[in-house]
Amino acid sequence: MKNAIKTLKIGHRGAMGYVAENTLESIQKAMDLGVDGIEIDVHLCASGELIVFHDLTLDRITNGQGAISKFTLSELKKLKIDNNFEIPTLEEVLNLINKTHTLNIELKGKDTASETSAIIEKYIKKKSWNYSDFLISSFHKQELKEVRNINKSIPLALLTNVCSNDALKFAETIKANAIHPNYVLLNKEYVIEAQKRGFKVNTWTVNNLETIKRMKFYGVDAIISDFPDRL
Ligand code: G3P
Ligand code: CA
Repeated sequence: MKNAIKTLKIGHRGAMGYVAENTLESIQKAMDLGVDGIEIDVHLCASGELIVFHDLTLDRITNGQGAISKFTLSELKKLKIDNNFEIPTLEEVLNLINKTHTLNIELKGKDTASETSAIIEKYIKKKSWNYSDFLISSFHKQELKEVRNINKSIPLALLTNVCSNDALKFAETIKANAIHPNYVLLNKEYVIEAQKRGFKVNTWTVNNLETIKRMKFYGVDAIISDFPDRL
């Protein structure tokens, strides 16, 4: 059966299947591949800036070691990802995207709600971005609640590994726009139920062609993929 509605393509950590994750180069690659949106992860660093990075520690993909939250921006800027790329700030990512694509900011680190909300406000007020250009997602319910308390207009999404009614109930309490379920336990009934309750369903991280086809058959609104050109 063909899916009548377009499934949006979201590049995961940029286009991490092709270029080192969460770098400006990876985000540029995703845009070159024709994505509708880009997903990135953020943490707060020791000097207070929001840094685009996935892990809690530097060890896996940089030449540094230790918790990213303990380093200042100038210290982080001296490091290299895969011996080649800089760790970007959230503002550098926004300046690169420049309103051309929706940005899904995952609040990965603790205490990221307030600064992320402030940067979104700044880009809306001073750089003519719209709220619809942003989507904040997180597994951390407290961070999502905090964003909602700060600002009623920022689109929110709950990340979840399980397709539970509790997840939908929580999403309702924070007036989320979307639910982001792991594809592994996702089924068509859950997609229909979530959409009936007013949520977009954006699933992750789907790289396999057969699975992409199955997610489209389920009728998801968007798919987040390391290889967004496969979508
Ligand atoms: O936002 C979807 C996905 O990125 C969540 O998992 O570990 O890749 O951040 P992770
Ligand atoms: Ca993520």
